[in-house]
Amino acid sequence: MTDCLKIQGGNPLRGSIRVQGSKNAALPLMAAAVMAKGRTTLCNVPDLADIRTMILIIESLGGVVERSGDQLILDTGPIHSNKIPEEYMRKMRSSLFLLGPLIARFGGAEANLPGGCAIGERKIDIHLSGFEQLGAFVQMDETQSNLQITVGRLTGANIRLSYPSVGATENLMMAAALAKGETIIFNAACEPEVQDLQAMLNQMGANIEGAGTTTIRIQGVERLEPVRYHVIPDRIAAGTWMIAAGITRGELQLEGVRTDHIGSLIHVLKQSGVEITRMDAETIRVRMMKRPKAVERITTAPYPLFPTDLQAQLMVFFTVADGKSIMRETVFERRFQHVEMLRRMSAEISVSGSSAVIQGISRLNGAQVRATDLRAGAGLILAGLAARGTTILEGIHHVDRGYEHVVDVLSACGADIQRTKTSLLLTETAS
Ligand code: EPZ
Repeated sequence: MTDCLKIQGGNPLRGSIRVQGSKNAALPLMAAAVMAKGRTTLCNVPDLADIRTMILIIESLGGVVERSGDQLILDTGPIHSNKIPEEYMRKMRSSLFLLGPLIARFGGAEANLPGGCAIGERKIDIHLSGFEQLGAFVQMDETQSNLQITVGRLTGANIRLSYPSVGATENLMMAAALAKGETIIFNAACEPEVQDLQAMLNQMGANIEGAGTTTIRIQGVERLEPVRYHVIPDRIAAGTWMIAAGITRGELQLEGVRTDHIGSLIHVLKQSGVEITRMDAETIRVRMMKRPKAVERITTAPYPLFPTDLQAQLMVFFTVADGKSIMRETVFERRFQHVEMLRRMSAEISVSGSSAVIQGISRLNGAQVRATDLRAGAGLILAGLAARGTTILEGIHHVDRGYEHVVDVLSACGADIQRTKTSLLLTETAS
């Protein structure tokens, strides 16, 4: 019996949504807490499967983590191990974020390499090369699965990333924060989550500047102190709900949004005819009264350009737009897994290499579909909300990794959506 979502399409979404805290900011911030012995409090942390996995990893190392509402209190004083358990590395790639902090705190770390996933190979060569340039000795066993990193204290260096990897930028910032001397990271990622990490590390006593630009300068310090820190809003969840309002021709008020973090999406949605109004510093209203116009070309790329994590959701929007759109995915090599599922819903999409051509149709049709990864799952929910008839979405454990209380959030805005079991649906259709 597996969980699935049953969605009856056609209801315009109306109401307000408080946007959750950022998953992709909270995960590295939780890892950074390992670098300061004592109790760190993180506020605005969403209750997600990936966050719960990171809690389990920190507890497996000896830490103590409590949740109180949207606050996580992480006592990392008792941490005694620097070996990330294999089961977690396989389960969640983001456990990688602990390598930098563990090396910085214990002079070394051990882990099993994270596997690839549905969207791509997900190599970690940029992380490891950065650690080596900081003086670490990186060994892998013959199966290329177990990783041992030893160093003692890291030494600052100039590191040029071969690609502006978000995770590698964050891992190396954390490692360099306690290194001896100065580190400069060139070709760094500029994402808001990197900027959030710099802000928290500096509050802890680090000396970092430049996050948000391609060059980040870190002066190593002797120790970091635990802090209380508020996590930024989740720009990808916010963008997902904006597209939900657009595709259902509804009107949503989104609270706790950093519009400066989603400028590229706002630009595209306005070109499609979506009305977006800033109500106050962190509140926007998104309204759509007509069929969207297609936008000719969208290419995903590192921040501040269009985020790969909204590619699937925007593609769904374009499947019912008036006209043809071409979307290019340049960040991950296999991030069109949702196309086959959208075709089951009558979408007209052709894929050639890293480009997808979407010919808009007037309406999608409900179907039985499966999520293959987190954001493909989010896109298929949007498709079900807009489609004619019923959509059954399987594989929703992917969605639970990144969207907090997704059924409650959407039902509260008028969606006809419920979490059920595939076996119950079989009996339903049989009866
Ligand atoms: C972060 O992943 C996000 N995850 C991803 O969000 C997001 O899609 C990605 O950044 C790009 O914005 C978190 O922050 C937890 P990368 P990350 O390193 O750090 C290649 C979601 O849906 N690469 O910037 O793993 C890699 O294969 C998730 O919330 C190497 O080749 O992304 C990919 O093609 C999905 N070697 C590209 O770089 C490396 O050592 C971008 O990866 C590292 C990365």
